[in-house]
Amino acid sequence: MTHRILVIPGDGIGAEVMPHVLRVLGALDVALSIEEADLGGVAIDGHGTPLPPQTLTAAQASDAVLLGAVGGPRWDALPMDQRPEKGLLGLRAGLDAFANLRPALLFAPLADASSLRPELVAGLDILIVRELTGGIYFGEPRGVENASGRRRGFNTDVYTEDEIERIARVAFDLAGKRNGRLTSVDKANVLEVTQLWRTVVTEVHADFPHIELDHLYVDNAAMQLVRAPKQFDVMVTGNLFGDILSDAAAMLTGSLGMLPSASLNARGQGIYEPVHGSAPDIAGRDVANPLATILSAAMMLRYSLGEVEAADRVESAVDRVLEEGIRTADIVPVEDADGVRKVGTQAMAEAVIGAL
Ligand code: NAD
Ligand code: IPM
Ligand code: MN
Repeated sequence: MTHRILVIPGDGIGAEVMPHVLRVLGALDVALSIEEADLGGVAIDGHGTPLPPQTLTAAQASDAVLLGAVGGPRWDALPMDQRPEKGLLGLRAGLDAFANLRPALLFAPLADASSLRPELVAGLDILIVRELTGGIYFGEPRGVENASGRRRGFNTDVYTEDEIERIARVAFDLAGKRNGRLTSVDKANVLEVTQLWRTVVTEVHADFPHIELDHLYVDNAAMQLVRAPKQFDVMVTGNLFGDILSDAAAMLTGSLGMLPSASLNARGQGIYEPVHGSAPDIAGRDVANPLATILSAAMMLRYSLGEVEAADRVESAVDRVLEEGIRTADIVPVEDADGVRKVGTQAMAEAVIGAL
């Protein structure tokens, strides 16, 4: 069976890394029909809009979308609704990809690349489930207005109980396939919308009595994540808190350049993208770590394409390459560490292909 993939390289290191990732996919025994489309800055330049209609149509018609990253200083001065990031948000909403899975998994050879002591992160395997198509990212009203000559900026954090219920069900379900523990993160001591979040998550728990549920305020959760991250199994939270906590969790695994993600809708379609952005500070220099995007491709094989064996192969190949001491700059422990070979983007991807 041939799987239909839409590849969206995007901007900065997204576009730089993607050709290498496609070569990794090409080294597998999986039949893919690959189409490419523009999103973000490159789409603004080429089509005058960050999400061209043909990109959304192609995404909706595909089995899965593999995405690099969007954004960059070139487009930062544009009005909010014309920015590259708006294209990404429109794609997520257009596919109804509400369930964003961000696994923070420590590859054993990287224990010394984390900014935390190795014993705090050794064996780390947590999953952040972030609601992706609601909350303050999409809430109305929003804007900056002029009130009697002074500017006033405002956004709205809003969740319906249906939106909370469907993401809670995904999270409970995933916890059931892992270690059976779910932590819901909110700010229910201050924000009504997250009071409802806590109430609905607690109600859904009645259908999952075998899962151990607890609730944390987001400030405490952020602290616990860097104090003792291994206490967590699955964390579920809203769009904004999930964005922030997942970058923090990335650092536990050594680098933002290691963290993949899957954004799923109810039909099993998904957008697969690294958690990191377009990294304009390092783009075009062959130094970006391609592993987050390679691991995102592995998640795509596993979750949307049912190619579990190929996914296992890619993940084992990454493990083996790290085991061999091959490192991009972001995961080099200390300069000249014994047995470590520092490589660029292309050489890292080639090492993965070699290990396959
Ligand atoms: P970023 O994630 O692009 O970079 C943060 C830091 O991490 C930078 O120092 C960068 O060099 C480093 N980094 C990121 N990925 C790396 C990799 N693979 N290998 C090595 N180092 C890596 O975040 P930012 O700088 O805040 O944002 C840059 C642009 O990317 C902005 O326009 C932002 O909106 C956009 N962005 C896009 C996405 C996305 O497309 N999903 C995600 C986050 C940020
Ligand atoms: C992410 C990014 C995006 C987000 C931006 C680029 C819109 O930071 O995927 O984590 O905030 O969701
Ligand atoms: Mn983010």
